[in-house]
Amino acid sequence: MSRIRIIKVSFKESIMRGIPNELPPKRERTHSSNRAPKRKDILSLAEKKLAIRNALRYFPEDWHRELALEFTQELNDYGRIYMYRFQPDYEMYARPISEYPAKSIQAAGIMLMIQNNLDPAVAQHPDELITYGGNGAVFQNWAQYLLTMQYLSEMTDDQTLHMYSGHPMGLFPSSALAPRVIVTNGMMIPNYSKPDDWERYNALGVTQYGQMTAGSYMYIGPQGIVHGTTITVMNAFRMKLDANDTPAGKIFLTAGLGGMSGAQPKAGNIVGCITICAEVNSNAAHKRHSQGWVDELIDNLDDLVSRVTLAQSQEEVVSIAYVGNVVDIWERFAEDEIFIHVGSDQTSLHNPFAGGYYPVGLSFEESNQMMAEDPQKFKELVYASLRRHAAAVNTHTSKGTYFFDYGNAFLLESSRAGADILAQNGIDFKYPSYVQDILGPMCFDYGFGPFRWVCASGLDEDLAKTDEIAARVMREIMFDSPPAIQQQMGDNIKWIDEANQNKMVVGSKARILYADSEGRIKIAEAFNQAVANGELSGPVILGRDHHDVSGTDSPYRETSNIYDGSKFTADMAIHNVIGDSFRGATWVSIHNGGGVGWGEVINGGFGMVLDGSEKASQGLESMLLFDVNNGIARRSWARNPHAQFAIKREMERNQKLKITLAQGVRDDLLDNLFN
Ligand SMILES: NC(=O)c1ccc[n+]([C@@H]2O[C@H](COP(=O)([O-])OP(=O)(O)OC[C@H]3O[C@@H](n4cnc5c(N)ncnc54)[C@H](O)[C@@H]3O)[C@@H](O)[C@H]2O)c1
Repeated sequence: MSRIRIIKVSFKESIMRGIPNELPPKRERTHSSNRAPKRKDILSLAEKKLAIRNALRYFPEDWHRELALEFTQELNDYGRIYMYRFQPDYEMYARPISEYPAKSIQAAGIMLMIQNNLDPAVAQHPDELITYGGNGAVFQNWAQYLLTMQYLSEMTDDQTLHMYSGHPMGLFPSSALAPRVIVTNGMMIPNYSKPDDWERYNALGVTQYGQMTAGSYMYIGPQGIVHGTTITVMNAFRMKLDANDTPAGKIFLTAGLGGMSGAQPKAGNIVGCITICAEVNSNAAHKRHSQGWVDELIDNLDDLVSRVTLAQSQEEVVSIAYVGNVVDIWERFAEDEIFIHVGSDQTSLHNPFAGGYYPVGLSFEESNQMMAEDPQKFKELVYASLRRHAAAVNTHTSKGTYFFDYGNAFLLESSRAGADILAQNGIDFKYPSYVQDILGPMCFDYGFGPFRWVCASGLDEDLAKTDEIAARVMREIMFDSPPAIQQQMGDNIKWIDEANQNKMVVGSKARILYADSEGRIKIAEAFNQAVANGELSGPVILGRDHHDVSGTDSPYRETSNIYDGSKFTADMAIHNVIGDSFRGATWVSIHNGGGVGWGEVINGGFGMVLDGSEKASQGLESMLLFDVNNGIARRSWARNPHAQFAIKREMERNQKLKITLAQGVRDDLLDNLFN
């Protein structure tokens, strides 16, 4: 009797093999519920042929006939060629670092991070290699993934892998001191950086949108967003309340329970206020409720008013999802004189006419129908709604509500709609952005930003140990830190003390906290020592969100509190990534496009494997000092007072740091010049 022998290729063998020697069988997409939307059909016939030619160059010629037909089908059906056939069979998740086939521990660390970004529990559209934000790609197609992992498995510590928008150009000889990987995503000649240029050149297979932490292998799931939102809402209340008052029983009104906005109620609960979050999409609201991200669901205004009145009287900490339009709440609360302490909005107004913002007066379903069938009429209704929205916000702020723009283009789109949203000078907006008032002056100017790490052993015990180490180091630093930064230190010590019980780890064993240059260096050094002395069972991989003090030039978000005219330049982000690359980073990345859109931002970041070595110890000190202070220096040169304070303090601590300081200029001198 003949027996069929099934030869199972192990995980390690699959990685080392790269693109298989034999053409694998055709396969369908596996995660059918999380599919990327069909992309715009933008290519001409000649360009479509070029896209197929480009895709086929990864494969031997005798596969071309079969693959050409399949890739043409993918291009027609999805607007992109993802090469589903080459998606690996093994499970995709961040394994313990020791399970990766690698000659370089640094390369193994990068493999772990790549697999985390593609883990179906973490990634938004895993089959299309999209981690978050709808288009934040790790690779453009599965051939690039296979080749990259193969290169990482074979590289040694004197080679560097160069990644061009997901495509591994190859390994080049370098040195042990060089980064193992250099990543660029979406770098374009500036005149070719309009949204349709992304559609065209991504469809051709020559560029990709890396978002911030997708194409840089540094995404850690929702934890990062919850932390940033908590810091923002907490400080918004502080701006509004007297020093001895607390957010208990006070209202935070906002909208959106989507990808990032869904963090708002959880953050509100951590802050300790009453969060009311409107969401027109009933499915999104129910999903967040079932996941435990929002406490209660209410779908009519009368019930909402009575529930909120009760919560106010009992000073409850509660988060409520209102299934409906946020404009209705702003207007109803104005009529009923319900005082809102803090207000914001996280509808997706960066994408106002294609499902990012739902106009008041239409149901969710009616809106979806109208935006497809009568886009012009829909646009008019969006603008009319924004005028009402802004008018209702104005009514509340005239009574003392603190309102801020949450980086979602609410103010920009409202101004385009003709809403009463401009300041008296007719140029600025009436309200600040969250970076102008909160994250910029309170965090970034002092160097506080989203420092993060991953325990490469994959063990919970290691994560708990790193939490303990980080909290201890932060307490030691706080003991004699200047009063100006004590509050940030205190907030982050509280966060890290409670991080484990907030249970926000999804995917790799990761943690985030906001720390400044001194904090980041001392925590990293303590981790490296703990790896060296065996207190931790494996290396620690350091990194950060690109949304930070130095990494990102983005005039309406991260650098919106730069007022010397330089916010439309991108020198800082470029210096950041070049400077990090020769100071000890394991990998560096620089991207066009982040949360605010292609062509609107340049952002850079790094990853660093702490393996307990002396080399890691030297690298972390030199690189983290530069990584943070490059941005503080630029903010100080732009005359931001907190940055001037922070950079002078850093220069006192480090004799080799010498920064050009800006001289103040008297207003009356300028006022008289052009009379
Ligand atoms: N959270 C952050 O840290 C952060 C930082 C910067 C910018 N942003 C911005 O916030 C926005 C939201 O991001 P997201 O990932 O959550 O987007 P998303 O599209 O997943 O979610 C937005 C939600 O708003 C709902 N919505 C739209 N109009 C509404 C209305 N009138 N009333 C009530 N609900 C309405 C939509 O149904 C959707 O579920 C984006 O523009 C993003 O760039 C967020």
